[in-house]
Amino acid sequence: MLVLGIESTCDETACAIVRDGGEILSNIVSSQIDLHREFGGVVPELACRRHVDILIPVIDEALRTAGITLKDVDLIAVAHGPGLIGALLLGLNTAKSLAFALNKPFIGINHIEAHLYAALMSRHKRVNFPALGVVLSGGHTSLVLMNDIGSYTPIGQTIDDAIGEAFDKVAKILGLPYPGGPEIEALAKEGQEIYPLKPGRVKERPFDFSFSGLKTAALYTLRDNGQSPTIKQDLAASFQKAALTDVVNKTLLAAEKLGCKAIVFGGGVTNNKALRALFEKKNSNLNYIWPAAGLSLDNAAMIAGLAYHRYQQKGSGDSLDLEALTNMPF
Ligand code: KG4
Ligand code: ZN
Repeated sequence: MLVLGIESTCDETACAIVRDGGEILSNIVSSQIDLHREFGGVVPELACRRHVDILIPVIDEALRTAGITLKDVDLIAVAHGPGLIGALLLGLNTAKSLAFALNKPFIGINHIEAHLYAALMSRHKRVNFPALGVVLSGGHTSLVLMNDIGSYTPIGQTIDDAIGEAFDKVAKILGLPYPGGPEIEALAKEGQEIYPLKPGRVKERPFDFSFSGLKTAALYTLRDNGQSPTIKQDLAASFQKAALTDVVNKTLLAAEKLGCKAIVFGGGVTNNKALRALFEKKNSNLNYIWPAAGLSLDNAAMIAGLAYHRYQQKGSGDSLDLEALTNMPF
């Protein structure tokens, strides 16, 4: 089954063609980083305008790269939430129009669920469930019990900033460009973890996260110690260590409590090599499953891949009155 997937939830315009949930024939991602960099974050109106300009060319390129035409596509899939409402509507209505015009089934996908599927794309048959899903992105920080593809129980989430958002905001405090995650990772390599920054604890919810206090602590550390390059390096290292250690500890605790056999990672922050090293250092018996290169940041291959399974499970597509959802429960 050939699935055409569309992703436009935030600041990436993407289209991919995937066969049977795992074979990626094309995975085209047009990033808008250049557009938003001068503002230090995503400007929704600008994101929408860029989606309008390039969504159709990106779809054309995905078809051309895969060596197929629209007639060959069996299912049209789109991320219909969560995300920026205008951006979601553009992808959703494009997908609906294609499905209607071509008389093909159409299906809406949860973007966060797709981030977890990304790691399983080429190897889902080898995952031992139950697994713990860990989504670490610019918009989400979630721990999810995965009993199978499509069967999830939320375990924990952030009560304020997402972890990627915290990286982006601390980067801004340090005068680094957007997106801040890779910038902090690079600066942290030069510094020492000398500042005792502490991530937030959420009363009686051991698997929830709070990163906004960490961000404020970073701001005060810089204010109180000055702005020298060494201080910035040490602050980047200390912030990164505190945020990532919190994720590692809560993840491993949850996995143990829930009897998980594997941990499935998704989202842009899982690109961070220090995070991967911290998990590997823990030497647990858990099978760590990381997304392949090109599948951790926002992309449409994960949308098209997951759509194949949803369609098989459901036995039909979604109705064309499916709505865009800025928030979407797991
Ligand atoms: O998954 P993603 O593309 O978008 C969302 O769905 O939000 O993730 C983007 C986020 C940004 O906040 C970015 O700063 C962060 O992932 N990120 C990183 C790294 N690479 C990207 N954070 C920490 N370390 C990295 N190497
Ligand atoms: Zn994402």
